[in-house]
Amino acid sequence: MNRTLEIELIDELIALKSARGLFLEEDIGHAPVERYASDDQFDTELELVFRRRPHLAAHVSELAKPGDFLRVDLAGRPVLVTRGKDGVARAFLNVCRHRGAQLVGENAGCQNRFTCPYHAWTYASSGELISAPHFASGFPDADKTQFGLTAMPTYEALGFVWVVPSPDSSLGAPFDFKNYFAPIAAEVSELDLADHVQVANDRISVAANWKIIVEGGIEAYHFKIAHRDTIAPFFEDNLSSFRSLGAHMRSIIPRVSLARLGDSPRDGWRLRDHANTLYSLFPTAQFLVQQDHVVLIVANPLAADHTELRIATLVPKSEAGDSELWMRNHAITRTTLDEDFALGESIQRGLTSGANAKLTFGRFEGALTAFNQSVADTIAAVS
Ligand code: FES
Ligand SMILES: [Fe+2]
Repeated sequence: MNRTLEIELIDELIALKSARGLFLEEDIGHAPVERYASDDQFDTELELVFRRRPHLAAHVSELAKPGDFLRVDLAGRPVLVTRGKDGVARAFLNVCRHRGAQLVGENAGCQNRFTCPYHAWTYASSGELISAPHFASGFPDADKTQFGLTAMPTYEALGFVWVVPSPDSSLGAPFDFKNYFAPIAAEVSELDLADHVQVANDRISVAANWKIIVEGGIEAYHFKIAHRDTIAPFFEDNLSSFRSLGAHMRSIIPRVSLARLGDSPRDGWRLRDHANTLYSLFPTAQFLVQQDHVVLIVANPLAADHTELRIATLVPKSEAGDSELWMRNHAITRTTLDEDFALGESIQRGLTSGANAKLTFGRFEGALTAFNQSVADTIAAVS
C-alpha cells in the first residue's frame, strides 16, 4: 500500500474515533434469507460465480519444484494441480480421458507422469497423453493429442496458484487474471506471501453458507460481544473501514493503539502495527494481515448450508524458526474464528425458521452490502 494511502486510512479512522463516529453508509441494507439457504441460489453461484472466478488452489510452497502436484476439489470439481518440468503451474480435471476414472488418488506428491489406475493411460505433468496400452490396435483412428487432460485457467501470482475451475474450452475466452486482480494486486504483492511459509494449515467443515462466513469477517460490530473472551480488548468498539477494489475488498480493523498514534509524528505511523487489514479476494480467499504474520481463510462452498474452510498461518521465512510461538498464534486465531463460525452455524439454523424474511445490515455494516453486490454483479455479468 502506498504511503499516502496508508496515512489516509489511518487518518480516517483516528478522525472517526476522536469524533466518536462510525464508518457509515447512507442507508441500511438487506439480504433475503433465501440468498443463504436456497439450493437454487447455491446452484446459480456454483455455475456463475465459483466456476467462473479464480480460487486459491495452492500456496507456492506446496508446488515448489517441478513434478510437485496437489489434488484439490474446487467448486465441486476434482482438480489436479501440477508443476511441469518447465516450471509452469497447470491445473486439470483429475479425470482420465479414456473412461473417466480419477487419475490421481494421493493428495500430494512429486512425479512427472500420472498413470490411470484403470487401464494405465499415462499423462505428463503438462497434461499430454504420452502412452496408452494397445492404443494403436484398440483406438485405430484416434489422435493421442486429442486425449490430453482437460486444462483449466491457471495463474501463479501473489504467492499462490489460482484456478478457475472450468475447462478452458467452456469459457469462450481465456480468463484475464491480471485484469481481475489488478485493483488489489499491488497491495497484496507487497506482503510478499511467496516468501512466507505455511506453519499451520487446518481444514474444517462449517454448517453455514459461505457468504455468512465472509460477512462475519468484514464488520467489527460484533467484536466486543462475540469476541469478548478473546480479542475484544484489543480492538475498538464497532469501528472499521472498507473499500471495494473491483470485486475485491480491503477492510481495516483498528486496534485500540491506533487512536494513540495521533500524538506521534506521522513519519512513524505504520498501519500494520495498529490495525488488522483483511483483503477479501473475491469470491473465496481472504488474507488477514496481522502485525507479523498473515492468516489465510479460504472457502470451498459445498452446499447452501455447508462450507469447507482452510485456515492457514503464513509467516515470513526469516521468522519461521520459533514454531511454538506461531502455533500459539494459530491456536488464538482458530479460537477466535471458531467463535465466528459457531455464530455462522447458529444463523444458518434459524434462516428458514420464519423469523426473518430478510437479514438487516446496519449503516456500519456497509461492507456486507458491498460484498453481496459483488456476488449479484458477478452473476449478472456472467449470465
Ligand atoms: S479410465 Fe483411465 S485408462 Fe481407462
Ligand atoms: Fe469475528
